Amino acid sequence: MKDKKVPVITIDGPSGAGKGTITQMLAIDLQWNILDSGALYRTLAYLMVQNEIDLLHFEENKEFVKEKFIVKFDPGIIGEPVRVVLNGEDITNKVRTEEIAKKTSFLAADPIIRHFIKPCQREFMKPPGLIADGRDMGTVIFKEAMHKFFLTASLEERAKRRQVQLKRQGSEVNMRLLLQELEDRDKKDIERQHSPLRPATNSVIIDTSNLTPEGVVEEIKKNL
Ligand code: C5P
Repeated sequence: MKDKKVPVITIDGPSGAGKGTITQMLAIDLQWNILDSGALYRTLAYLMVQNEIDLLHFEENKEFVKEKFIVKFDPGIIGEPVRVVLNGEDITNKVRTEEIAKKTSFLAADPIIRHFIKPCQREFMKPPGLIADGRDMGTVIFKEAMHKFFLTASLEERAKRRQVQLKRQGSEVNMRLLLQELEDRDKKDIERQHSPLRPATNSVIIDTSNLTPEGVVEEIKKNL
C-alpha cells in the first residue's frame, strides 16, 4: 500500500535515445530518486562475470548474488553518466562498456534474470518520487505509473551519442562497429519473448533526434 503513494515517471526506449540524460535532469530538478534499470542489469552482469557465475549456474548461486547485489545510483553531474555504486564501490565506467552491454543484453533476455531483478527494481520506489529509466519500466515493472514516456531517435543519432559517451570514458570507438552493435542489441531487446522493448499503450512518445535535452525535458514537463 505504501508503494502506491510514491509517484513514478517511467522513461523507456532504445539505447542512446537520451533516457539517461533526461532521467538525470528530471531527477535533479524534482529531487527524486533514480532507477537506471539498464545499469542495474549491467551491474548484475558485471557481478556474475567477476564471480564466474554463468546463467546455467545462476539459480544455485542466487543467495550469494543477492547478498552482494547492493546497488545505489547517484545522479552525479549533468552531462556525465549517472553514477553506479556497488557495495560502496563506484563501478560506473566498469559497467558502461560495450562488452558488458553485450553480455547484459544476453542475460536480460532470460526470465530467471528478469524475475530476480524485478523486486530489486521496485525497491527504488521511495518518497518523494522515482524516475525509472529502462526498456520495460512502463510496460511491466511500474505498470501503475501515472506518467509514462517512450524516447526514440534515429539509429545514426543514437550511435553518435553513444560514441561521444564512450570517447569521454576514454574508449576507442569504431563507428561502423558501434552502429552494428546498437542495431543488434535493439533487435534482441525488441524481439525477445520476455518484456520486449515497446512503448506502453498509455505512454507519450518523443522523438529526440532533433531536440536538445532541455527541449525533451520541456516536452515531458508539459505532459506531467
Ligand atoms: O540502457 P542500457 O544500455 O544500459 O541497458 C543495457 C541492456 O540491459 C539493454 O540492451 C537491455 O538488453 C537490458 N535492459 C533490459 N531491461 C531494462 C533495461 C535494460 O532488458 N529495463
